[in-house]
Amino acid sequence: MKLAFSQSSLSHIKSDLLVLFVSSDKTLFDAQKKLVTKEFPAAAPALDSGDFIGKKESNVMIYTSEKAASPRLLLVGFGETTALTLETLRRCAAQVAKVATGKKLCSVAVALPAKAMMAGLSHASIGEALTEGIMLAAYKFDKYFSDSDAKKNNTIQTLTFCTDDKKYLNEAKSGAEYAQTVGDGVLLARALANAPNSEIYPETLAKAAQKAAKDAGFTITVLDKKKIAALRMNGLLAVNQGSVRPPVFLVMEYNGGGKKDKPIVLVGKGVTFDTGGISIKPAAGMGEMRMDMHGSASVIGAMYAAAKLGIKQNIVGLVPATENMPSGSALVPGDVITYSNGVSVEVDNTDAEGRLILADALIYAQRYKPQAIIDLATLTGACVVALGFVTSGLFGTDEALKTRIKSSADYTNEYVCELPLYSEYEELIKSDIADIKNAGGRWAGAITAALFLKRFIKTESGEMPWAHLDIAGPAILPSDTAYMPKNGSGVCVRLLCDMLRNWK
Ligand code: BES
Ligand code: MN
Ligand code: ZN
Repeated sequence: MKLAFSQSSLSHIKSDLLVLFVSSDKTLFDAQKKLVTKEFPAAAPALDSGDFIGKKESNVMIYTSEKAASPRLLLVGFGETTALTLETLRRCAAQVAKVATGKKLCSVAVALPAKAMMAGLSHASIGEALTEGIMLAAYKFDKYFSDSDAKKNNTIQTLTFCTDDKKYLNEAKSGAEYAQTVGDGVLLARALANAPNSEIYPETLAKAAQKAAKDAGFTITVLDKKKIAALRMNGLLAVNQGSVRPPVFLVMEYNGGGKKDKPIVLVGKGVTFDTGGISIKPAAGMGEMRMDMHGSASVIGAMYAAAKLGIKQNIVGLVPATENMPSGSALVPGDVITYSNGVSVEVDNTDAEGRLILADALIYAQRYKPQAIIDLATLTGACVVALGFVTSGLFGTDEALKTRIKSSADYTNEYVCELPLYSEYEELIKSDIADIKNAGGRWAGAITAALFLKRFIKTESGEMPWAHLDIAGPAILPSDTAYMPKNGSGVCVRLLCDMLRNWK
């Protein structure tokens, strides 16, 4: 999708679909009605009918006269100005995408909303939110349909923003371009997550990350099984033990900051398929577990976007990747893993594999003496029970880091909710035969998983700033929402990029 910016009057814009946003505030609505009907007389009946009064996320299509430069005019309601938020903008933009892709239209022109109806939102953030909404809502995972009618993927080739205000246009442009780059990262994450296991397994995940590195300009080292063994990444080796396909460990590095600046390390769970292993999962819905590498997809998407944007930070992305398979050589309950930092773990349940491989990555992360470590993982069903599909679980030991994550989450509408790490819960992962065990039973499952990870953040010199995002709900969606599709959502790419651009 190409972005264009035009300082021209509405009736001259050539496109398949011209979009105008309309406020439901009576005085604004009436003023807009006057303006629109003057330019487009065909809109008068609809605006007079009372059927369309600018209500939030409502729309009406007008077919303009044959003389008009754009044959279709879509009026989209913004609702009340005082209630206007970036999320409303994204959702309204999502409607535009649904209409345009539904009719397989190629060019869309969007009139930037009049200043009077922007409720103090910055011009840049308006360009950003509108671009996000359109781009993210236009996506559909349609690669396996043979019938072209089933293919509803983005038909929009150009998206033109217009206003006669030059300053407004330029500021909106910077926001729109930011959103497009980040949006490419989100779409990359979705594509990786949604791909079936036959396409994305550890080695092909590495190939995809190498391509992203080349396209965006960051370095990547792919550690193979031999190197993983040499590093004594024993959790990753143990989980991989039942698999025919070998594991990989990805080390991605982007240096946008100063030479001496310590990096921010992002860690993503890369379980390319989670059968549960010997503690096998039930058959129903198991196919969803092709998306159990969404944490790694989000990290790769964020690395891609951050490098493309030239964000002024040093960023490291780490991905331990393997399948979790049952077989004659698989890890079994009762086994004990000893990690390279000396911590021993009793394997109580082979389906609690994510934490086993993340532990190796958290140990590896510490060699950077990072400013912060943030891991993202589809880690527990318990987190989905607690927070559903709207909110990720946030855990961490560092208030400042959690604040950064929370404020970016609020900004991008990728909600997080903090859950506690009280030491009393540690009781649940005590083992009779090793330092800890990998499963804590039925209660507080998201918390015991996080406490397991915390065990690998401690060093002799204390704890370093660390946060864990359990994205099991928001990463794998059961149905479409405004601009998030069913299945792999690409969640947290926008959050991470916003956090990184604001990092000081
Ligand atoms: N990948 C799953 C968690 C998951 C479940 C993600 C549903 C998305 C949707 C994880 O590896 C897992 O199986 N966790 C177990 C842990 C338990 C055995 C302690 C779980 O949540 O049941
Ligand atoms: Mn599992
Ligand atoms: Zn898993």
